[in-house]
Order: sequence, then C-alpha cells, then structure tokens
Amino acid sequence: MTHRIAVLPGDGIGPEIVEQAVRVLGALDLDLEFTQAPVGGAAYAQHGHPLPPATLELARGASAVLFGAVGDWKYDSLDRALRPEQAVLGLRKALGLFANLRPAVLYPELANASSLKPEVVSGLDILIVRELTGDIYFGHPRGVRVVEDGPFKGVRQGFDTMHYAETEVRRIAHVAFQAARKRQGRLCSVDKANVLETSQFWRDIMIDVAHEYPDVTLSHMYVDNAAMQLVRDPKAFDVIVTGNLFGDILSDEAAMLTGSIGMLPSASLNASSQGLYEPCHGSAPDIAGQGLANPLATILSGAMMLRYSLAAPDQAARIEAAVQSVLADGLRTPDIHEAGTTRVSTSDMGDAVLKALN
Ligand code: IPM
Ligand code: MG
Repeated sequence: MTHRIAVLPGDGIGPEIVEQAVRVLGALDLDLEFTQAPVGGAAYAQHGHPLPPATLELARGASAVLFGAVGDWKYDSLDRALRPEQAVLGLRKALGLFANLRPAVLYPELANASSLKPEVVSGLDILIVRELTGDIYFGHPRGVRVVEDGPFKGVRQGFDTMHYAETEVRRIAHVAFQAARKRQGRLCSVDKANVLETSQFWRDIMIDVAHEYPDVTLSHMYVDNAAMQLVRDPKAFDVIVTGNLFGDILSDEAAMLTGSIGMLPSASLNASSQGLYEPCHGSAPDIAGQGLANPLATILSGAMMLRYSLAAPDQAARIEAAVQSVLADGLRTPDIHEAGTTRVSTSDMGDAVLKALN
C-alpha cells in the first residue's frame, strides 16, 4: 500500500531539516509517496498566502503531513491573516488536529547538554498532551475595540476570548488518559482553575472522564506551579494534559530540559489518526541555510508519523534506534555540541542516521 505524505518544508531552517527527514523515511522498507508544497512565508512570497488552497488540498488528501517550520521576521508587519504562523494554525483547524503529543525524552548521551543538573534530568521521559484547536488561540470574539464604560471608557482595548466546549475537553482527556495507560499510568492535568472559569470547567470534565480510567491516577496542578515543578523535579511527571495556550508554553520549557529544542518531535492528530508531524522548534531564520540546524527533531517526527499515522511501529523504532546510535557515536550539531564530541552539519547528521539505519 502506498502512503501519501505531504511535505511542507516552510521557512528558515525548515527546508534543510525536512530534506534530511525525507531521506531517512525514504530509506525504509515502506512505500511512501512524497509530494512537496509551499507553506508559510515561502508560500506567501510565491502565492500571496501562507496556506494556499493547493497546499491545503494536498494536506487533506495525504495520510500524513511532514511539516518543517514557518515564520520569518520579514513577514512580521503583514496583516495577521497573512503571517506565516497562520499556515500551521490553519492546517490544525482545517484538519481537526486537536491532539498534540510532545514527548520530552532526554537521551542519556545529552545529559550534560541540558541547562539543568544531570541528576535532575537524566532518565527524563515525559509526554505533554496539548489541546491544539481550541482555547484562546481560536476564541471569538477577538480584536481591538473602544471600551464603552468603566474606568477605561473611550480607550482602545485589545481582547481575545478563552473558551472550551465540553466535547473539546472530553476528547483530549480521552487521548491523554489512553496515553497514560500505556505509560506509567499517571496523568497531571494543568490548568488555572483558581482564577479562570474555563479552567475550572476543564478540571471538572477531567475528573468526570477519570471515572472511565480507574487504572490511571489523575492529579491537577496550576500552570504557574507546573512551570516551576518542570524545572525543579521534571521526572515527577509522566503525562501532562493541558490546554492550547498553557501547552504552548510548557512544551517549550520541557523541550529545554532535554538539552536542545532541536531534539523534540511532535505529532498533531485528528480523530481518524491523520496527522501533522513537525519539530517543536521554530524556523530559526538567523541560522538558515548554513548547515547549523539539528535535523533530529524532524527525523524523530518522521518516526512518530510511522507510529501514529502509518501503523509502522517497527520502522519507527528503527529510526529511533538509529538516532540513539549516532548520539552514542558522539555526533552533534552545534546546538548540542560539547567538548569531546564531534561537531557535524545538518546534512552530515542526516548521512549518519541513514548509515545507522542499516
Ligand atoms: C508551536 C508554535 C505555534 C503555536 C506558533 C508557530 C503559531 O509556537 O507549535 O508551539 O503557538 O502553537
Ligand atoms: Mg510554541
């Protein structure tokens, strides 16, 4: 069976890291058909829109999307609707990719690359389940208005709306409980229920869904405390489930625990296991095109694609083992380089993973 993969490299370092991931995926014993399309600032430059209709159609018709990164300072002054970031937000919404899985795993070889003490992070293996199509990210109304009364009467005001529908919270809760069940069986729901109505509602639904998973231990934590515990004792977590905005912030924090955000893959799934796979990091236009970028997060995103959308867990494990072995061989892109290891370029790293596959 041929699996159609939409390849959307995007901006900045996107093309060079995606190129390495495609090489690795292409070397497996699978029938994959890759079709590339522009997205983000690159698509705006060519077609006047960050998510052109043809790119969206390609993504819709694919079993999975391999996504690089979008964004460039060049486009920061555009109307919000035309900024590169709208491409990834639009794809998430259009494909219904509500479940974002961001595993933060510390490879033992990188224990010294973390800014935390090795004993705090060694053996780290946590999974952040971030709701991805709701919350204040997509809430309406939003915009800028003139305040009608009260102390700011007549003053312009920017505003957004945070809300979560019960169905949205329930479906992400099920994803998180099922993930926890396959791991250590501990789920921590992160919210701000001491202040926000939306969060209290989220917490109530989590407690309700927990009745269906007696084998999973559910706990709750306020987001400010979670941010602190993640650097104090990250290994205390197994699975974290949280909303879109808190998940955005905590997943960057968790990424850094592992030494480099250049190591972290992600999967964004819809109800039919169609998925978009992208590194957690951004487009890093400052280092683009110089062979400095770490392709491992994107290569590992390819492994997640095999596991979650293409039902090829053996091939996924092959990629993960290959990554582990190049790290054990001491190969490091600049972001994870330290004394005593070998500094390599983006494409050298791709070559090494390819070689280690066999
Ligand atoms: C992420 C990114 C995106 C987000 C941006 C690019 C819109 O930060 O995937 O975490 O905020 O979700
Ligand atoms: Mg983010």
